[in-house]
Order: sequence, then C-alpha cells, then structure tokens
Amino acid sequence: MQVKYRKELDPIPVYVPGKPIDEVKRELGLNRVIKLASNENPFGFSPYVKEALLKAMEEANQYPDGNSTLLKEAIAQKYGISVEMVLPTCGSDEMIDLIAKTFIGKDDEVVMADITFPRYSATSQMMGASIKIVPLRNLTNDIEGIIKAVNENTRVVWLCNPNNPTGTIFSGRKLVELMEAIPPTTLLVYDEAYSEFASHPDYPKDSIKFLNKYKNMLLLKTLSKAYGLAGLRLGYTIGDPELISTINKIRNPFNVTLLSQAAGAAAINDEEFLAKVIANNNEGKEYIYKEFDKMGLEYAKTEANHIIFNAKKDNSTVFNNLLKRGVIIRPVVGFNPNTWLRVSLGTMEENREFIKALKEVLK
Ligand SMILES: Cc1ncc(COP(=O)(O)O)c(C=O)c1O
Repeated sequence: MQVKYRKELDPIPVYVPGKPIDEVKRELGLNRVIKLASNENPFGFSPYVKEALLKAMEEANQYPDGNSTLLKEAIAQKYGISVEMVLPTCGSDEMIDLIAKTFIGKDDEVVMADITFPRYSATSQMMGASIKIVPLRNLTNDIEGIIKAVNENTRVVWLCNPNNPTGTIFSGRKLVELMEAIPPTTLLVYDEAYSEFASHPDYPKDSIKFLNKYKNMLLLKTLSKAYGLAGLRLGYTIGDPELISTINKIRNPFNVTLLSQAAGAAAINDEEFLAKVIANNNEGKEYIYKEFDKMGLEYAKTEANHIIFNAKKDNSTVFNNLLKRGVIIRPVVGFNPNTWLRVSLGTMEENREFIKALKEVLK
C-alpha cells in the first residue's frame, strides 16, 4: 500500500470476536450451535427494556440526546453521585478507546497484565505507548508487581477486576494499596465489566467509594454482561468530573443511540432480573466445577460469568473439535503451553451440552 499510515498500527492484531452462531451453522452445516464464547447473557434482558425500546423506536428518526441526559440521571441516582461524574458510551470498548486517546501519548508508559482484556493493549499501541506487562501470579492480577512497574512516566494502569479471561479477583485492600502507591498523575482504569457476578467476600463491591478519595481512578461499567444488552452497545464510566469532562471533549457527539439510552435507563434498576441472572450463573459455575473436577481438569474459580480451564491439549484443536459439535468457546492466548480455553457460562442446558461435547473431544 502506498498510502502512508501511522506505523504505531503495525503491531496491533485485528480483534477476533467470538465466532457468530450463524457463521458456524453455515460453515459446518449444523442445525444447532451454542455460543459460549463472548460472555454474553444467556438469560436475555430485563422485561422493562423491551417496553422502553418499543417506545423509543417511535423517535428513531431523530438524533439521540447527545448528552444522554436521562440515562446519566438514572445512573447518578443509582449510585447517589452527581451527573458530572458519569459518561455513557457505546460499550466500554468506546471508553477504552477514548481513554487511550485522551491520556496516552507516544512513548508514554502504560501497565497491564499479560493475560487480560486485549483492548487495553491494542488501544495503547494505537497511541504509540510503551507497554509494561506484569504477568499474572496464580492466574490473578499481581498488584505488588504492578506497583513495582509503575513510575512517574506511567500514564495509565489498566486493570479489570474480575479479570477477563481468568475470572479471578483482587481484594479491596489491594486496590487501596495500589492507589496509595501510584503517583496522582497516573490514571487507574478500573474495569468492572463483570462485577455484578462477583460474590467473594474480599471483592470490593463498593468500589465507587474510592472515587471520593482517588481522583486518578475511573470505574468502567458495561450493560453487555449481567444486564444482557451486548447487542445495544452500552457502557458507562464514573470518575472525577474533571477526568470525565476532559474525555467528553473527544467523544462522538451522538455516541449512545436513542435505543440504547432508553434501554439502559430501563435496565439498570431491575434488581429482580439481575438477581435471577446471578443465581443462574452461580448454579452454572458450580455444575461446571463439579464436571471439571470429575474430568481432572485444572481451572480457575471464577467471580465472573466465564471459566478458564486447562484442557491439557492444544487449545485450537480443542476449540475446532468443539466447533464441529456445535459448541463455540474461546481459546485463551498467552499461556505456555497453549492449552487453556475460556467458556462463558450459559443456561444449564447449554452448560450440559458443553460438558458432553468436551468429554467427547478430550477422550
Ligand atoms: C473486561 C472487559 N472490559 C470491557 C469489555 C467491553 O465491553 P462492552 O461490550 O461494554 O464494549 C469487555 C467485553 O468483553 C470486557 O471483558
């Protein structure tokens, strides 16, 4: 190609999403395919969402409210915070991109785990950052290692808690240790995409309280997981108003669709739906633990809606053989040897189908 482009893009791999069901059906001539690959919600979404969407559809000829006013107000009310602390986006993905563009310049240092959500490294590379990798320890974020890796030149620390793909957590105490140790000029991006599923007593369910003290921390939330709205692309971020207003300068004027704004406002207070989702998720994970134990497979106990396990065989072979049986999961990149895979928790029927297929593939 003769057209010049930014060389920072060279090392960035194209994001490979979980394979879509229809594609697998077509490619392999299968009638039934289940997808446990993208940590989606197998239980759909709140009934209030459908109602809100149908109503909002009537106005789809108009641009959405560029400020997402009603949605922001609903979020602010939920947490008892000011609307100035809230910024809704087109999924957390958009926020990760905006954070990189706002805070990271060429050769700035950023810190992250070796096995974590890949958009942190891709967006940092996009800006030409120098990435310091801190390997997971016991499949968990190594907070001491991260503290050691941070210095005055570190612009951003990217962390998700629970971590994707491992589903593991670090405690509120560790979070405080980290915030006390890093300079106030370093931003912690604290991604809580899976927080609703976490129930471990050490997990900081009330992380929002840390924002009062630490002005260099952003809390990322998504409605794609526990709330089941992945297809609508909606996330939101909470943080110090100055951080939020700085990021707000570069977001697209109508970044959250009219439908997503309405759906989000309807979804976030449906505690009954959320409780059902979490109970089903817990039932699913206990079932899968038991089956993995019976099969003698190593796995990480999860605080999210996905489990990683060591198939002790090449993970792309296992992935492809499961695919042939109509089960889409995901090989995990970064382990040596490459024998780990991640399965999203599905309905109990889907979980059973996965285990049945896995037994066939591994026998
Ligand atoms: C840790 C983490 N952060 C952010 C995202 C992006 O979520 P969204 O669908 O809101 O863009 C994901 C999606 O899988 C994720 O796992």
